[in-house]
Amino acid sequence: MLKDPSKKYRPFQPVALPDRQWPSRVLTQAPRWCSVDLRDGNQALAVPMNVSQKLELFHALVKCGFKEIEVGFPSASNTEFTFNRRLIEERRAPDDVWLQVLVQAREDLIERTIESLIGAKRAIIHLYNSTSPAQRRVVFGKSKDEIKAIAVNGATMIKDRLHRLKGTEIILQYSPESFSATEHEFAKEISEAVMDVWQPTPQNKMILNLPDTVEVAMPNVYADQIEWICRNIKNRDSLIISLHTHNDRCTGVAATELGLLAGADRVEGTLFGNGERTGNLDIVTVALNLYMHGIDPKLDFSDLNAIREVYERCTGMTVPARQPYGGELVFTAFSGSHQDAIKKGLAEWTTGTQKHWDVPYLTIDPQDIGREYHEVIRVNSQSGKGGVAYLLETEFGISLPKDMQREFGPIANDEVDKLGREVSGTELKTMFWKEYVERTQPWQLQSFETESKDGLVKCRARLLHDGKPVEISGEGNGPLAALVHGFVKAGEKRFAIIDYSEHALGSGEEASAIAYVQIRRAFPVMRTRWGAGVDTNIELASIRAVLSALNRL
Ligand code: KIV
Ligand code: ZN
Repeated sequence: MLKDPSKKYRPFQPVALPDRQWPSRVLTQAPRWCSVDLRDGNQALAVPMNVSQKLELFHALVKCGFKEIEVGFPSASNTEFTFNRRLIEERRAPDDVWLQVLVQAREDLIERTIESLIGAKRAIIHLYNSTSPAQRRVVFGKSKDEIKAIAVNGATMIKDRLHRLKGTEIILQYSPESFSATEHEFAKEISEAVMDVWQPTPQNKMILNLPDTVEVAMPNVYADQIEWICRNIKNRDSLIISLHTHNDRCTGVAATELGLLAGADRVEGTLFGNGERTGNLDIVTVALNLYMHGIDPKLDFSDLNAIREVYERCTGMTVPARQPYGGELVFTAFSGSHQDAIKKGLAEWTTGTQKHWDVPYLTIDPQDIGREYHEVIRVNSQSGKGGVAYLLETEFGISLPKDMQREFGPIANDEVDKLGREVSGTELKTMFWKEYVERTQPWQLQSFETESKDGLVKCRARLLHDGKPVEISGEGNGPLAALVHGFVKAGEKRFAIIDYSEHALGSGEEASAIAYVQIRRAFPVMRTRWGAGVDTNIELASIRAVLSALNRL
């Protein structure tokens, strides 16, 4: 990199708009959406989609609720043309969905594009030409007037052919491509020249799409550009102002949101932001950002996993793990404090005491977009007891007493640390079983019998101590007390049961119970340990839990 980048690069010259209005506005409704997955997104794929992949993605987009879908560039290839024809001839597009087609300002291309639309119910014809100084100089070698003439000729050629689309409801769209890098006065001038040809009215509006083809500045600069156009262009009420942002500076979403504040009506983008270079705007994110503020986005992402699956299958792209809303890990907390807060927040939410969603670390309820609570918490070495307890409870119904969570949490953490990776709920259960339930050294239960008379319970336990048979007997006000008495009588150091709980595990024939026992011994040093026992018989589960705790002392 250069020591002094100013020798090679320069700052972007923003629009002067000192009385900008957009910073004090808030978004209160969804814009019109247009998916450009099948055109801009497709153009950016190393292996573009074939017709059947495009059909599958088209149907998924319709299912999400898109009413405007740029289906392609029909004059660019046979695949694109055939795809459009199949949509129309096989009546695959619902009547309320507009098929949008992109075309450059060239007669042969416009001819073919019109041909591709014959018989369509509703269509948007999208004309574009590039307008920025670099494009004018490097690509076209043309003056501003010559570039304007390209747009006007293209607009005229389209207008002259509209009679061939009788029976098709048409909206015309113009994009001064590379708008955000174009002098705003020239962008206005060229757009108005196209308006002069198409003559939009408030009843018959045209779409003026203002692309951030390459992000060249911060999103506030784009917002100023949009507000400036909205305020200065003639016949604003005859226009649907549309945004089309890319993501070169990673602010495509921000630019779109600020552009909407600045007065735009419509947004073009793709699922998960697929598109040239760093991608197009991710429509899922903008829509769900509205949703998290209580605004109906008018797009249905209730099963985002299924949408992601179709998207990945059709495009061959992968949604990154941290992609907002759709990424594998976005509803997953690894750190202990996050897990704890989420667990408490989810528990509070299920009580119904909170009217509005306010769960720490989760901007929306994952269930609303078809993701599940159990995805929320996973455990690695950064996790605390909260995550461990949550997984044991949600996956296996093992509900550890609070104090036992404090004991087992660090034990599990050490194990996870050694493995150096995330662990599953099943692995945690195995650790728990090894640490508590399967401890048989030195004490192992062979049998346990009780008889009770007048409130006094007498017990006889046959045990192994380091593999050698031992029989003990004792009495007390319950089986556990009798067992403790038996141990003491047999010469074991005195200990007391200080906590006990139990619950059923699973259901059905092999239904078993789990008991948790905490014991304390004062000599030779004060020690407190938990134990756990599992058995189909609840009494035996509790006896096993005492032995487990003793084995851990
Ligand atoms: O990024 C862009 O400018 C485009 C235009 C064709 C609208 O895709
Ligand atoms: Zn684009």
